[in-house]
Amino acid sequence: MSTVPIIPESAPFSSEQRSWLNGFLAGILSRGAAGTLPSINSNATDKPKLLVLFGSQSGNAEGYSKKLCKEANARGFQARVAGLESIQPEELQTENNVLLITSTWGEGDMPDNAISFWDKLNQNGSSPKLDGLKFSVLALGDMNYGDTFCLAGRKLDQRFEELGAQRIHPRVDCDVDYDELAKTWSDGVFLSLLNTTGNHDETTNSSVVVEKEIETGYTRKNPFPAPLIECVALNAERSAKDTRHVAFSLEGSGLIYETGDALGLLPENCPEVVANIIAAHELDADAIVHIHNGSEAPLKEALKKHYEIRSLIGKSPETKVSPTDFINSLRKLQPRLYSIASSLKAHPNEVHLCVGAVRYEKDSIQHKGVASTFLADRLAKGKTAGVFIHTAKHFRIPANGKTPIIMVGPGTGIAPFRAFLEERKITGATGNNWLFFGDQKRSTDFLYHDQVLNWVKDGHLTRLDTAFSRDQTEKVYVQDRMLSAASELWSWLEQGSYFYVCGDASRMAKDVDAALHTIVQQQGGKSEDDASAYVNEMKKSKRYARDVY
Ligand SMILES: Cc1cc2nc3c(=O)[nH]c(=O)nc-3n(C[C@H](O)[C@H](O)[C@H](O)COP(=O)(O)OP(=O)(O)OC[C@H]3O[C@@H](n4cnc5c(N)ncnc54)[C@H](O)[C@@H]3O)c2cc1C
Ligand SMILES: NC(=O)c1ccc[n+]([C@@H]2O[C@H](COP(=O)([O-])OP(=O)(O)OC[C@H]3O[C@@H](n4cnc5c(N)ncnc54)[C@H](OP(=O)(O)O)[C@@H]3O)[C@@H](O)[C@H]2O)c1
Ligand SMILES: Cc1cc2nc3c(=O)[nH]c(=O)nc-3n(C[C@H](O)[C@H](O)[C@H](O)COP(=O)(O)O)c2cc1C
Repeated sequence: MSTVPIIPESAPFSSEQRSWLNGFLAGILSRGAAGTLPSINSNATDKPKLLVLFGSQSGNAEGYSKKLCKEANARGFQARVAGLESIQPEELQTENNVLLITSTWGEGDMPDNAISFWDKLNQNGSSPKLDGLKFSVLALGDMNYGDTFCLAGRKLDQRFEELGAQRIHPRVDCDVDYDELAKTWSDGVFLSLLNTTGNHDETTNSSVVVEKEIETGYTRKNPFPAPLIECVALNAERSAKDTRHVAFSLEGSGLIYETGDALGLLPENCPEVVANIIAAHELDADAIVHIHNGSEAPLKEALKKHYEIRSLIGKSPETKVSPTDFINSLRKLQPRLYSIASSLKAHPNEVHLCVGAVRYEKDSIQHKGVASTFLADRLAKGKTAGVFIHTAKHFRIPANGKTPIIMVGPGTGIAPFRAFLEERKITGATGNNWLFFGDQKRSTDFLYHDQVLNWVKDGHLTRLDTAFSRDQTEKVYVQDRMLSAASELWSWLEQGSYFYVCGDASRMAKDVDAALHTIVQQQGGKSEDDASAYVNEMKKSKRYARDVY
């Protein structure tokens, strides 16, 4: 289906350039409506094959890949989309065109579903030659990670080239707001593909209309102002921790979540911190500034609600700048994600979180986390905060309620498991449930202890293993409890149990992963490689899922 071209035939462009520009401009003009896009000749009998591969942990790369695949099909490709966990590197030898979209996790690591693919791509002696494959990489990341910014995408891009694949469009590295840059990349990629496949109709306007998905309801870009119902301390008074049970009302929002999903929250900076920064930079707090969203506001409001100011704390300005230049030098304040700690079936119209307040001292300055202390200290009951649902398809309870589950969730990592247990209780799921929980001290830090112990009492929680790290001289962690229960844990795994981990990514999740490998190796009588293959197979079949941060 063709549409009215924007660049007229009389313009000094070749038909190909005109067609491309028409598509490109229509795409820009029609944000929210339909886009006219250059495409494969609709009469072509052999539609070019295109494989869109994603490495994704929390769903961004996966969601974008699926949209891109739809768009590619509308442009006349024979496109399919797949996660990197479902493909072997040698299978790429039968492909012509691959678009690879990946995020980066941990400290420059591959997302979980890409680890096995990456390892195989680097196996000495057995990595496949990829001559003849055309590819391009879109890397998603976060510039706050510095040197590891988009590292997974950068590594894959380089490795594909080393293996002989031909890059048809340069890699693009995206920061957290990736929409615009990703669109520029995909436009460039499609133009290159159309040029190289040779099927592009040069004589007619072969553009197609691709319906742009119109986001309805409340989303990241249009968050719901959710009233705070309660924010209750979960630690006893003498605790060194400050963990909160936070409940928001979703009444009237139409928002629906599944257990395993996260809640996106738009925080506000602390007004005191804002005032200190304005004073240090000798700025006028009431000066009106233009905000990135197109509106205007006094500087103090703009800094409170719209910009990241953490990096400015304690820094003396080198030169004096105008309020506008000051604002323009800052990054947008990003939403924070929190694993949802409730089942919607158990708490209709509500969403619960388990939030650890971040407070620490550095260079003799007391710092506080923006979002966690916005919730813990500044948001009053009944007042609203902008929220949206961040879908986590990789982190779901088994569809079959009879399937056993093992959950490892120390500290705030307990959040999604409270939700899983509530959901499995209310739906009458009969599968066995095993929880590993840990924190500093039993007397002060046993989060949700009443609810958890009641589940033990009534048999809903088949087994509970706790690791209170500071109740004895030697540290005891959840992975120590796993190793002590190795034989039973192995027998659950052999019965098809799912294995979930949530909480700290930098230390705990790595140590728990190592303990899991040890258990599989020792209890299953396997070699190290066979144990890795077993664990990889669990990941591939989505029986090993992680929600780590
Ligand atoms: C999928 C997902 C689920 C999550 N679920 C939860 C959850 O259920 N509960 C929960 O509490 N959090 C959860 N988080 C983490 C949460 O999103 C925030 O990152 C966390 O609350 C901190 O945000 P903040 O705005 O309070 O802190 P920020 O203002 O973002 O400050 C945090 C930064 O401060 C610095 N920092 C922190 N501690 C120290 C220290 N001791 N020394 C030096 N620097 C330090 C680090 O640079 C850190 O990145 C989750 C994250 C993800 C991605
Ligand atoms: N700085 C803060 O105040 C703060 C607040 C909230 C969240 N966070 C961050 O958010 C994440 C989760 O924090 P949280 O408060 O929920 O819990 P956490 O800090 O992960 O602590 C929970 C339990 O895990 C233990 N632990 C420490 N290292 C471990 C390891 N290698 N393996 C297994 N267990 C280990 C802790 O013991 P020990 O502490 O005794 O070693 C504690 O008993 C972490 O990344 C944390 O850094 C930080
Ligand atoms: C725990 C954690 C670790 C991350 N580590 C990195 C990193 O090392 N480098 C980077 O560029 N981005 C990093 N990111 C940002 C993600 O790559 C980014 O949010 C991306 O959009 C996530 O896409 P996904 O949902 O497809 O996994 C990290 C994010 C989280 C929550």
